[in-house]
Amino acid sequence: MLFDTHVHLNADQFNEDREEVIRRAQDEGVTHMVVVGFDRKTIPLAIEIAENYDFIYAAVGWHPVDAIDMTEEDLTWIEELSRHEKVVAIGEMGLDYHWDKSPKDVQKDVFRKQIALAKRVNMPIIIHNREATEDIVEILQEEQAGQVGGIMHCYNDHVDYAKTCLDMGFHISLGGPITFKNAKDPKLVAQEVPLEKLLIETDCPFLAPHPNRGKRNEPAYVKLVAEKIAELKDLSVEEVARQTNENARQLFKI
Ligand code: NI
Repeated sequence: MLFDTHVHLNADQFNEDREEVIRRAQDEGVTHMVVVGFDRKTIPLAIEIAENYDFIYAAVGWHPVDAIDMTEEDLTWIEELSRHEKVVAIGEMGLDYHWDKSPKDVQKDVFRKQIALAKRVNMPIIIHNREATEDIVEILQEEQAGQVGGIMHCYNDHVDYAKTCLDMGFHISLGGPITFKNAKDPKLVAQEVPLEKLLIETDCPFLAPHPNRGKRNEPAYVKLVAEKIAELKDLSVEEVARQTNENARQLFKI
């Protein structure tokens, strides 16, 4: 009963074989997934996929890399879509300082607006963080985002920040990087963060876990993430799958 909390089945990389990919996930024991939309193109497709499969849900938000493109109409549109019965979270949103398409102040503004939106509609948020941990934590605290809580998606940072996020009421989601040989931080996070606060994800088509690293990722591989957490925590894979599934259903109110 694996819950992949972050998939981009709405990406072009799945245009040729989306149905097969979804079937393979089911064969591997994936019982739930959330397709994340993050712009004008991927949001409608996330919702369409969620409408076609009863075990697939959607999240709607605006990606920080494209923050500069977001209009007030887009924000209103996202708020309207949040009322769709298959939409379970707002995101992904956050800060990405790796790419410089959108200036930092614009990214921060769009991030704050989406947190405010999530609080209006009372939904958890999905956070994308790249090289921006300190500013993310500051904004989450200032905006009191803990009121709705949410997910630090594809967590790949120090365990100290993970604990700060837990204190604010957030969950930590681990993905493919935890299986990489020299990924010290996410492995330590898996060991130190209580299982009740952990989630699993693939972020497919990106970041495929070992031994598929570098290839197209897909939801079936979320099992490899669960196996690695089980190994690091000295638990059974079944226990990791069961508890992370329960955590996700509670957070998404499924
Ligand atoms: Ni993503």
